Amino acid sequence: MANNYTKADKATMYFIGVTTGKSSIMKVFPEWAEYLGIDAEIKGFDFKPHDNPSSYMEAVKFIKDDPLSMGALVTTHKLDLLDACRSEFDGLGHYAKELHEISSISKRGKELWGHAKDPITVGLSFEAFIKDGYWKESGAEMLILGAGGSSLALMTYLIGRARDGRDLPSKIIINNRSSRRLDELHRHADKMIAEAGVTGMNLEFNLCPELEDNDSVVSGLKAGSLIVNATGLGKDGPGSPLTDNAVFPEKGLAWEFNYRGDLVFLDQAEAQKKSKKLTIEDGWIYFIHGWTRVIAEVFHRDIPTEGPVFDELCRIAARVGAPVKSAV
Ligand SMILES: NC(=O)c1ccc[n+]([C@@H]2O[C@H](COP(=O)([O-])OP(=O)(O)OC[C@H]3O[C@@H](n4cnc5c(N)ncnc54)[C@H](OP(=O)(O)O)[C@@H]3O)[C@@H](O)[C@H]2O)c1
Repeated sequence: MANNYTKADKATMYFIGVTTGKSSIMKVFPEWAEYLGIDAEIKGFDFKPHDNPSSYMEAVKFIKDDPLSMGALVTTHKLDLLDACRSEFDGLGHYAKELHEISSISKRGKELWGHAKDPITVGLSFEAFIKDGYWKESGAEMLILGAGGSSLALMTYLIGRARDGRDLPSKIIINNRSSRRLDELHRHADKMIAEAGVTGMNLEFNLCPELEDNDSVVSGLKAGSLIVNATGLGKDGPGSPLTDNAVFPEKGLAWEFNYRGDLVFLDQAEAQKKSKKLTIEDGWIYFIHGWTRVIAEVFHRDIPTEGPVFDELCRIAARVGAPVKSAV
């Protein structure tokens, strides 16, 4: 994919992804920038998944050397980009070192910095959806479908919660369709738990090659349990990690990480919403936290994560950028 590395003539933030032009951020960013008083524009750089290291290097060097190129948000290429360009960074945040990935590129004077914001933004989204004390009161469990990057971020957040003595699901179950990333996540979680000195986290890792395997874990969950679709199915690939026969738990919570696509998992939850008294959340708030944390880093601005300014940012995003459901 040919990206246009022309010197910026005004402050510019980049979105490094795969199909960046389709994202709501292209409409939302200019409105947010105006509201926040940031005189800047956004441009997309598209790469193939697992693109050549030299392609990532070209983009990172361009941003580093161009004075008005302020930074970038990175999706999909978070691991590959850092792998290819580590030598260009003068500093990395704590989670970037821990997870070996970056979702934020920013500048501090002449220094180029990389941060992994996902454990923070997934945590903010989790807390917007589920209030403190819920797990202690309900004794409910949590099932994460998928063991990719966002599940690792969620696990990192949950281990931080345990370290801080906050309430947790009585059991955290992770299902993945193949073993490589499931085993990686398992190893990583054990390492982080040991380093944090956390005890008593009840984790279960299941290899679930068939959708029916996920269904049977869902049907065994306690009342009030949370099911997270972190597989990307519905956006990155067709369908859902569940069949239509999956039975959600009574008063359960269903969280789809995406907000755009043909989100079959959400349809499946909606079909049982009334009978099972489900609470359903999509990835829209996650999208807003994801972007606002990186914009705050890139433009050195204190953007709140709740309260009137955050609420206005949500209203602006909903007005200009909220996707029509089922529009991929
Ligand atoms: N709203 C937001 O702002 C936001 C933020 C972050 C992420 N997301 C979305 O969340 C999704 C997940 O992101 P990611 O980075 O974690 O993706 P990822 O790294 O591709 O991981 C997806 C994982 O799901 C597994 N999987 C696929 N089908 C499955 C099935 N039927 N049963 C069990 N596991 C299955 C995959 O297994 P294999 O290991 O076999 O491939 C893979 O490990 C993406 O679509 C992303 O766009 C949204």
